[in-house]
Amino acid sequence: PLVTSKEMFQKAYEGGYAVGAFNVNNMEIIQGIVEAGKEENAPLILQVSAGARKYAKPVYLRKLVEAAIEDTGLPIVLHLDHGENFEICKACVDDGFTSVMIDGSKHPFEENIAITKQVVEYAHERGVVVEAELGKLAGIEDNVKVTEREATFTDPDQAVEFVERTGVDSLAVAIGTSHGAYKFKGEPKLDFERLEKITKMLPGFPLVLHGASTVLPEFVESCNKYGGSIPGAKGVPEEMLKKAAGMGVCKINIDTDLRLAMTASVRKYLAENPSEFDPRKYLGAGRDAIKEMVRHKIKNVLGCNGK
Ligand code: G3H
Ligand code: 13P
Ligand code: ZN
Ligand code: NA
Repeated sequence: PLVTSKEMFQKAYEGGYAVGAFNVNNMEIIQGIVEAGKEENAPLILQVSAGARKYAKPVYLRKLVEAAIEDTGLPIVLHLDHGENFEICKACVDDGFTSVMIDGSKHPFEENIAITKQVVEYAHERGVVVEAELGKLAGIEDNVKVTEREATFTDPDQAVEFVERTGVDSLAVAIGTSHGAYKFKGEPKLDFERLEKITKMLPGFPLVLHGASTVLPEFVESCNKYGGSIPGAKGVPEEMLKKAAGMGVCKINIDTDLRLAMTASVRKYLAENPSEFDPRKYLGAGRDAIKEMVRHKIKNVLGCNGK
């Protein structure tokens, strides 16, 4: 069934695991993810960005997710990723999404609160849950000054005030992760002290980790071997994600790993089968790779298998 993340997060919090939130843009991506979820009997969050809505058209993604639910019988959340204003959040609530993110993180604190409250009020009246974000995502550079870190990473006291004043259902925090395939120049590092503090100050409250792809080396190598060029790509180590999942983090966002799985396998397939031109062949290879990658995440990183 199509569900909200309310119960999912409660169970994840108590169980010390996290639910994977996967970005979807087309049929093969959706099928790869939900086939993995079905084999592992895992709850899933399928999230749609503004860019995904523009690429696929909203109705196609909604219908594909409906088909995935009908096909698998899994509890699935349909979530808007990084809604930048009230209008897009409203459009998704009206469109049947069960969860929306209002990302006011680029605004000053009071404005972020105001825009988040507006979305919460509209969504809650219609049974939809809301994620917000406080702090700015950016990698930890070894030489970054403490003052810069304080300016971008989520402040624990502000987080408490933000949650109380907005009534939001979950909060994305900035502790050193970042979007994309180049998360760390040197050694990967996250501010776990900060995460622990936020978790302690908001007991039972679900936190969200964006920019949480691990950037699997096997996919980076395949991309580079078969004609691509993504040197120096680096993600969040699995151990760090497991540690975060054991704390207040209940939702772990993954997009880059899906893109890399798809691209690595399509590149490989086409390079090894130069006379093939049937899209079902190479997109099928992409779908298979996504399925295996997501199964691995569910079982070995998120810990949400059988939940
Ligand atoms: O956080 C961003 C997600 O990876 C979605 O990316 O806006 O290019 O669809 P997108
Ligand atoms: P990645 O780029 O690490 O996959 O993060 C995705 C994300 O946070 C989507 O909101
Ligand atoms: Zn994100
Ligand atoms: Na957790």
